[in-house]
Amino acid sequence: MKSNIKISRRNDLTGVLPALRDLLDTCYPKPPRDVFYRLIEQYRIGFPVYIAVEENEKIVGFTYLAPNSKGGTLESLAVHPDFRGLQIGSNLVRRLIGENRGVIQITTRIPEFFEKLEFKSITQLPDNSYFMIYLNF
Ligand SMILES: CC(C)(COP(=O)(O)OP(=O)(O)OC[C@H]1O[C@@H](n2cnc3c(N)ncnc32)[C@H](O)[C@@H]1OP(=O)(O)O)[C@@H](O)C(=O)NCCC(=O)NCCS
Repeated sequence: MKSNIKISRRNDLTGVLPALRDLLDTCYPKPPRDVFYRLIEQYRIGFPVYIAVEENEKIVGFTYLAPNSKGGTLESLAVHPDFRGLQIGSNLVRRLIGENRGVIQITTRIPEFFEKLEFKSITQLPDNSYFMIYLNF
């Protein structure tokens, strides 16, 4: 059952915000628990959104690209704890990379996850997270 996951792209968040709030609050439980609120502030209609759903249409994975003139920043990657280890997170990132050219950047506390996807670590930031890029030309 858990292998029946579909990833789809959309260009707006109509109808999915309550489910995304649950998912992001679950996946980012530590204070300041602000990932959902940053999504609300930063997201603009037209940004590429990638959503993974299981067979009952429950949203189990999410990420989006905040574009800039050179590519963009991959934001808010999240996979529901009950559905981890199934390559959903990697497939969300691969799909985003596959459909968006340029310099894809990320700040993350799990560089190992992104190194497996061929992101390169550029530097460690003052908050101990890592700034990484994927050159996608
Ligand atoms: C990180 C996260 C998205 C991974 O999702 P997932 O669907 O379980 O990941 P995948 O199944 O695609 O894992 C792919 C590989 O990365 C590894 N991996 C998974 N989570 C990892 C983590 N937290 N740290 C390091 N490596 C990790 C897996 O072991 C796997 O390795 P393998 O291919 O050699 O077996 C998910 O654990 C999550 O939502 N975490 C909380 C939010 C978060 O930290 N988001 C990322 C912030 S930038």
